[in-house]
Amino acid sequence: MKYQDRPLVQALQNFHDRKPVSFHVPGHKGGVLSNLPVTVRQALAYDLTELTGLDDLHEPSAAIKEAEDKLACLYGSERSFFLVNGSTVGNLAMLYATVRPGDLVMVQRNAHKSIFNALELTGANPVFLSPDWDELTQTAGTVSLKTVKEALTQYPNVKAAVFTTPTYYGILNKDLEQIIEVCHSFSIPVLVDEAHGAHFIVHDAFPTSALELGADLVVQSAHKTLPAMTMASFLHIHSQFVKVERVAHYLQMLQSSSPSYLLMASLDDARYYAETYDEKDYESFQLYRRNLIQDLCNLAGVEVVETDDQLKLLIRATGHTGFVLQKALEMRGIYPELADLYQVLLVLPLVKVRDEKRCVDVVDKFKVAMDCLAEKKTTSVRLHNYLSKSSPSSVVYTASQLHTMDMGWVNMQSATGRVAADAIIPYPPGIPLLCAGERISHEHMEQIQDLLMAGCRFQGAINRETKQIKVVVE
Ligand SMILES: Cc1ncc(COP(=O)(O)O)c(C=O)c1O
Repeated sequence: MKYQDRPLVQALQNFHDRKPVSFHVPGHKGGVLSNLPVTVRQALAYDLTELTGLDDLHEPSAAIKEAEDKLACLYGSERSFFLVNGSTVGNLAMLYATVRPGDLVMVQRNAHKSIFNALELTGANPVFLSPDWDELTQTAGTVSLKTVKEALTQYPNVKAAVFTTPTYYGILNKDLEQIIEVCHSFSIPVLVDEAHGAHFIVHDAFPTSALELGADLVVQSAHKTLPAMTMASFLHIHSQFVKVERVAHYLQMLQSSSPSYLLMASLDDARYYAETYDEKDYESFQLYRRNLIQDLCNLAGVEVVETDDQLKLLIRATGHTGFVLQKALEMRGIYPELADLYQVLLVLPLVKVRDEKRCVDVVDKFKVAMDCLAEKKTTSVRLHNYLSKSSPSSVVYTASQLHTMDMGWVNMQSATGRVAADAIIPYPPGIPLLCAGERISHEHMEQIQDLLMAGCRFQGAINRETKQIKVVVE
């Protein structure tokens, strides 16, 4: 079988076609020794390793190099890398490649936890930039040019800036191009976590990608919005400040020495999908999307919110939290990406011209869920926009100071005023409500209580059974 213009997929297929006898790792021997369901076993025939003809992710010179070159060409980067541990490893590698221990780094306060982990691991110190509050989605949005300029006046020694755009909810940083210009004028490299924007490249109707706007390093979860496998992501670099070799150096340290060929082939395929996405595909996506929005808007009690990214839709059920709506939908077999106090978030399929017919019609199920909610008691929710209130700030204790301090658990009622020993993270979306070393305010505690009551899941320094928070002993 021929896989046009997908060098790594083709190399895997060529290897498979030779019906090779495996005396090499992995131990499932092409799936033969596996007891997984038969369809999964079949896929394991392609779960190969660095065999002759299959190249090496960490020293690419053949099929992987060709595939990564095609990726770089599509996104307009100096070099693009395949990632097999998600944007998580991309965020770690881009910070390791850019900063030194003790450096000050401007970071959007509503960044993903992997950014804060990267700062801790590199020993850099964060200057938190407050995002503007986004009225449309009722979530923390992006950082304005004004906030960046204010931070630069207050912290002129900043060595790097990290932004997240679009947000999980599809809100775009409309100031990004100017922010990049200003940062570059101070010789500050701009790193962008574009985990939710790998698809921007496919059509002009989607926002312009951060790379095109001049960002130095950009990380994208191809698995989130393009048809790549979970954990498969891209990292692009195009920079006068950060060296390609440093990124490659840290990636070979941080990524497995046995990267999954299934993941890498899915990246090659996702790149091809994006590259071949044409006008007809976009029209068909639009048709699918508009019909869905129309049908959902016709249901009583449903509010549909469109954001900057057409792949994201927010659905609200009047008088109910997003968590309640999520439960009602899941009972009918519909699984949204996430819920919060106000809404659920849907990530739409980036359909091509023939695919829209393969997307299941969900409106009847939505209707049943809404009918069921109509019989339930309604609740009102409080607005929490503490993330957007403060001016540029930092933690009370840095990660290295925290390592030497004692920690203890306290009841939630007495946590206000203490310092969080570790991050407290509603999951998803994985954005720390509190970072390690931040002072806990009354508003933080109100939001934690509201989220717990509504059924939100948490990671980090919180025990929902004992209702306790882990704090620093000062
Ligand atoms: C903004 C953002 N950055 C990074 C990540 C981590 O991405 P990955 O799951 O590809 O490791 C996520 C995951 O949800 C995210 O939302």
